[in-house]
Amino acid sequence: MRFLAKLLSAVVPFSLLLAGTAEARDWQAIKAAGTIVAATEGGFQPFNYYEGKQLTGFEVDLAEALAKKLGLKLEWKVVPFDAQLAALQQDRFDFAIASHGYTEERAKAVDFANPHYCTGGQIAARKDGPLTVAALNGKSVGVQLATSYADAAKKIAGIKEIKTYKGDPEVFSALRTKKVDAWISDKFTVKATLDKNPNSGIVAGEMVFVERVSMILRKNNKDLADKLNQALAELMKDGTYQTLSQKYFKADISCRP
Ligand code: ARG
Repeated sequence: MRFLAKLLSAVVPFSLLLAGTAEARDWQAIKAAGTIVAATEGGFQPFNYYEGKQLTGFEVDLAEALAKKLGLKLEWKVVPFDAQLAALQQDRFDFAIASHGYTEERAKAVDFANPHYCTGGQIAARKDGPLTVAALNGKSVGVQLATSYADAAKKIAGIKEIKTYKGDPEVFSALRTKKVDAWISDKFTVKATLDKNPNSGIVAGEMVFVERVSMILRKNNKDLADKLNQALAELMKDGTYQTLSQKYFKADISCRP
């Protein structure tokens, strides 16, 4: 008996602690709570970034609209991009919306919702720098850690060195200070960054690959995936999606069949 009490006192607080952080809930639990918990990064303009202290961007606005459609409040968790897959598997939030491109590797760990935009990876460099895949031969390339750009860079033969950084703002500043010769990132992120830094001397180059970007959810959280997919489809039907897309891109960036 005493042994059991000891065991319980050792085990119970720990499991309570775990329960306290477990938030990747199923649809019923989310609906009952009235709040959905979403993760994003906050360093990937114009998708998810900070304007002063305010989290904003296409994906931030889109998630707010999705929550509204589902009749829920939205709570944000700001999580470094390279930590999001593991954090999702640890149930720290219900879903992440942080421009995850579909990859088979990621699909082993998490589920993907239907894509909320289609895009591609693009090279950027100084005007006299390597602006094509061929020109990357013998050059150094900066990419954000744990991204599809890092994967793409690994597949390009002849690159001298791949340097990984916590976020794209860090890669951009490494490029400006000549710590790397080129940067690979999302074409819209490159554009937004260059638009905000018109005198950087950096220009956009060749496209490297294309990808479909989706929210990620805990594996087999099927009802929640269905709800998010339904809400996304409704936002595309009622014009909310297009309004947001025009606001940030002056174009419709949805994936077309
Ligand atoms: N689309 C790229 C990928 O799938 C990069 C996403 C980076 N997202 C971010 N919030 N920094 O890996």
